[in-house]
Amino acid sequence: MKSNNIILIGFMGCGKTTFGKWIAAYSHMEFADTDEIIEGKEGRSISDIFSSDGEEYFRSLETLVIEDMIGSCRNTIISVGGGLPVREINRQLLKKLGTCVYLRTSKEELVRRLRQDTTRPLLKGGSLEKKIDELMAARENIYQDASDLVLDTDGMSMEAMAAELGLCKDEGLGERHNHI
Ligand code: S3P
Repeated sequence: MKSNNIILIGFMGCGKTTFGKWIAAYSHMEFADTDEIIEGKEGRSISDIFSSDGEEYFRSLETLVIEDMIGSCRNTIISVGGGLPVREINRQLLKKLGTCVYLRTSKEELVRRLRQDTTRPLLKGGSLEKKIDELMAARENIYQDASDLVLDTDGMSMEAMAAELGLCKDEGLGERHNHI
């Protein structure tokens, strides 16, 4: 049986962390974010990790974090980095960790939200639209395949998204886990 965690996956800027923190507080669940955990453990930013040790090193840290979470996380909303589901081993681990929800967001909305961003190494330099197009083309099917549920976020309020997940205020998952 799956652990009763909800894992939010999707592209950078789709709202995994913002919605994840909100929904955890709203429904009295715990919240965890793989990027925050990695930055805390390493004592440096993701940009620094990428520039000093490279993307593959960062990807290995992601795998270690979710392996660790399988033993320790219960009743938790987990936001994972946008590239984490790309590794096959990570997708297998996510299946053990809980129910995966893909927060699907249009390219136009992502561009709007990421326009001013300076924290994401994969979006630095060059055309933001082109980078999003390329990464989306490589990842869209992966997100679909890795997810148990797809939630379209454009124009959706957080309350409406919570309702789509079958989560009610202050009630956590409880029996509602079956609704996802
Ligand atoms: C990445 C997404 C980022 C972060 C890193 C790489 C990606 O997380 O893990 O910059 O490959 O899509 P968010 O999706 O939370 O921005």
